[in-house]
Amino acid sequence: MCKNNSLNDNFPASLFPDGYELIPDLKEIYELQLAYYEYKLLSPQELIENSAFFAEVGDKPTRHFELCAGESLYLPGHSSSKRKSFFESNIFHTGYGTHGLFPYRGKFHPQMIKGIINIMGLKPGDTILDPMMGSGTVPVEASLMGINSLGVDASPFCGFMARTKVDALSMPLDRVEKAMANSDKVFDYFFRKSNSPITRNTKAKKFNSYDSFREEESKYLTSKSTAPCSDTDETKLTHNLLLLAYLDSVGYAERSKQKSAKELFKGILQRYYFVCKKAQDAISKTRITLGNADVSVGDARELEVESSSINGVLFSPPYSFAIDYIENDSFHLKFFDVDLSDLRNRMIGLRGGRLLLDKYECYKADLGQALKECARVLKPGCLCTIIIGTNSSQLSTIFKTSKEQVQGLHELTVELGADHGLKLVKQFERSIHGMSNTMRKEYIVMLQKV
Ligand SMILES: C[S@@+](CC[C@H](N)C(=O)[O-])C[C@H]1O[C@@H](n2cnc3c(N)ncnc32)[C@H](O)[C@@H]1O
Repeated sequence: MCKNNSLNDNFPASLFPDGYELIPDLKEIYELQLAYYEYKLLSPQELIENSAFFAEVGDKPTRHFELCAGESLYLPGHSSSKRKSFFESNIFHTGYGTHGLFPYRGKFHPQMIKGIINIMGLKPGDTILDPMMGSGTVPVEASLMGINSLGVDASPFCGFMARTKVDALSMPLDRVEKAMANSDKVFDYFFRKSNSPITRNTKAKKFNSYDSFREEESKYLTSKSTAPCSDTDETKLTHNLLLLAYLDSVGYAERSKQKSAKELFKGILQRYYFVCKKAQDAISKTRITLGNADVSVGDARELEVESSSINGVLFSPPYSFAIDYIENDSFHLKFFDVDLSDLRNRMIGLRGGRLLLDKYECYKADLGQALKECARVLKPGCLCTIIIGTNSSQLSTIFKTSKEQVQGLHELTVELGADHGLKLVKQFERSIHGMSNTMRKEYIVMLQKV
């Protein structure tokens, strides 16, 4: 028996009253902070419906718990035990909804996004904007919370990926299941397509990957029978999910260099089917009414959104020029016949002259312009949350100074926001783990439109 009774307390459960059970595996201080604010700001019923960090409230399991529970992501048999254990331990953080489709670099941590949306005060029926949505984490998460969203990204590939991940929350899956039995043919079909990319109108604001997609080919793809398909939307949705799986397999084969894309495709397609089925079963079991997600290709510096119309903005900009999103996605972008140098001229962090200093100056001006647009579209009193880390190593080389002396991008964001009527109300700090990352900290900066 321990003499010091305090050691018998269960920390961090003791931070909350009886009946409030935290999600297993909360390891980080910022997660406990967000859980605390969820508890303070949401009613017990709201916590059951939308909390990110509670597993049970008053003996009732939360929707988040039910969305995540069950088998973790289906991984192909050849996956390493390291990869399997990663997915198992992350089941409540990342392994739910359709977030598991496509590993986009720089993607948000979805459970954190849910917590932030809650503490920003957004409720079902409100509208949130992510002006640099990348793979669509905010639109997917908002939909799962019954919140409407507008998602924008300069990259047509991101437009396609986000649309597909949102659609996958509710699309029919019968033909995807049939395609799994035909996976070699499906792969060959897209492989032939990669040599003659989908041509599309690059000026079009709404991304439409199937503009030139031929119905006949899609029928051949997804059904062994030659019976005509009557449901055109289903054809398009199936096509998009299969295409995303194809692009995923090519990217994975390039990174791992162990198996060919064709060998990987079958397992990836099976995983996609499993992810969608698990998400859709949980959505119907927990009776979620999905929020509408309007995703498009556009420019965060010039949003086609009405002034004072949005209840919250949440985004993560490129961390100056830390990641070259065009080089990373070049295969995928070429598949959509995107003019890469034209896109580079619109991408924040990649624009500007050849000298890194010029690029940085351009980045600052662009981030300022994006924050000005966020302030314009927000309703007064509402919040704009920016998640940002600092690439101090690269910046210290440019400024010929020590890493400690570099102005953090989070500080720059606060400064630029203030120029446009956005006032700092709260800031959280989060550590970044993983050997491949040179950044050690990321900040959640919450600004309010005054
Ligand atoms: C850090 S990533 C966002 C990742 C995203 N939060 C997610 O969960 O996947 C930054 C994104 O900004 C986009 N971007 C860069 N310049 C842009 C611009 N001018 N307008 C809109 N999006 C832009 C990039 O294409 C990239 O997807």
